[in-house]
Amino acid sequence: MESTKKPSGIINRNFFLHIHANRVHVHSMKPTYTFGLGIMLGFLFLIMLFTGVILMIYYTPSVETAYQSVKDIVNVVPGGRIIRNMHRWASQGMIIVVFLHLLRVFYTGSYLGNRSLNWVIGVVLLIIILLSNFSGYLLPWDQLAFWAVTIGSNIAASARELTDLLGITNAFDPGGFLKKLLIGGETVGQPALSRFFTLHVILLPVSMLILLGIHFWRIRKDGGLSRPVRYAEDKGSTNKWYAWPVLMWTELGLLLLVVVGVLFIALVADAPLLEQANPSFPENPAKSPWYFLGIQELVSYSAFAGGLLIPVLYLVFLFSIPYRDREDKYVGQWFSGKTGFKVVWRSAAFSFLLVVLQLIVLIRFGWLRDWFPGISQWFVMLINPATITGGVFIMMAEIIRRRRQSSRMAALALFTSTFMALVIFTVVGIWFRGPNWEFFWSVNQWPVI
Ligand code: HEM
Repeated sequence: MESTKKPSGIINRNFFLHIHANRVHVHSMKPTYTFGLGIMLGFLFLIMLFTGVILMIYYTPSVETAYQSVKDIVNVVPGGRIIRNMHRWASQGMIIVVFLHLLRVFYTGSYLGNRSLNWVIGVVLLIIILLSNFSGYLLPWDQLAFWAVTIGSNIAASARELTDLLGITNAFDPGGFLKKLLIGGETVGQPALSRFFTLHVILLPVSMLILLGIHFWRIRKDGGLSRPVRYAEDKGSTNKWYAWPVLMWTELGLLLLVVVGVLFIALVADAPLLEQANPSFPENPAKSPWYFLGIQELVSYSAFAGGLLIPVLYLVFLFSIPYRDREDKYVGQWFSGKTGFKVVWRSAAFSFLLVVLQLIVLIRFGWLRDWFPGISQWFVMLINPATITGGVFIMMAEIIRRRRQSSRMAALALFTSTFMALVIFTVVGIWFRGPNWEFFWSVNQWPVI
């Protein structure tokens, strides 16, 4: 007997359509709208989970055996090297792709309308991805891991600069508390390894899975991906295609591309593994993982301003974007049109000039303490490239908001300028800082220590 069910009824039972709606708006299918970044992120996460579970079979989270177990994974376990490399490169890939996804969502105004909650969930996911990477960094227990996490934990304690100045650290030490919470003591040891392991293999992946479920569910609840207001009236089947099979094949193609890409990188580049961690032999320079080097650069100006004040303000800014900018007419439009594009490139250029100029002054002529050796630490903490940059950008965004009577233009200016600054500080931290955090044009110029 022939089925009396409608084709869409049959399709509905399909797993694929639990994630996607039956019909997808043509605008959402444009490759230049999403670049497939969100889906790519999801696939990288799956690779991370899959390879992570395999690694867990052999890895032991103890300071006595962790290093040797990773060495065994690399040298003895069949396919272990590739699995470890894939795990490392997929997780680093997630950091790059999550920032690209953040840029695409922001510049297309996709937090506008009813999507504010999904933006907030996204920012939490971004933090979780960074923490997942950071917690995994310690697990091999080699010199790189040990000193990077030592630096990271000192950044966590940066509130001490302020409490020391106020003379209250003995009574009230939030920096010390945060550091202890993170590594379970004053120095990195077994308690830190146990904490990082638990975070890395249970707490963070489970939180990420739950939040991803909500993230995807919200996309459907919000009526699919954002699109310009001229399509707002498209209901029912107007301007919509069946998601199956075109979208499915596109996404399977993307999955193949991501897996092959990660596999290729894993075959040609090994994840680093230095000598076993030696707490009495510090690395110089001791650098945090690359994605925190922008913050480490700011910390070198002032621990409190760079390690706490500016990062917290930045997160507050990211979380608050959809609540401070409610100009829904710009939803789904790259850069909010010509005026927005002008604001974006001008803010990027201004930020570049401001940050580079300050770095030139700082590197060539020093800063307050070099000019006035007896100056109070209060001034150094409050007046440095981190605080000046942040303050100038906030003022610039406020001027733009008033002049253009637009919160979206102000958000574009502040987001672009701060992001550009973050990139420059990170680049400087990665490539131009050497022993004792001095500036060098290249590694070849580093003194032999
Ligand atoms: C593990 C991390 C993440 C994954 C796997 C993920 C995945 C996705 C996917 C698959 C989409 C739909 C397709 C696309 O836009 O490419 C999407 C949309 C969205 N994402 Fe994410 N995302 C993540 C992190 C973030 C972050 C960091 C933000 C921003 C702070 C964010 C905010 C949004 C918003 C607002 C949408 C809706 C966009 C629209 O309607 O056009 N997501 N995400």
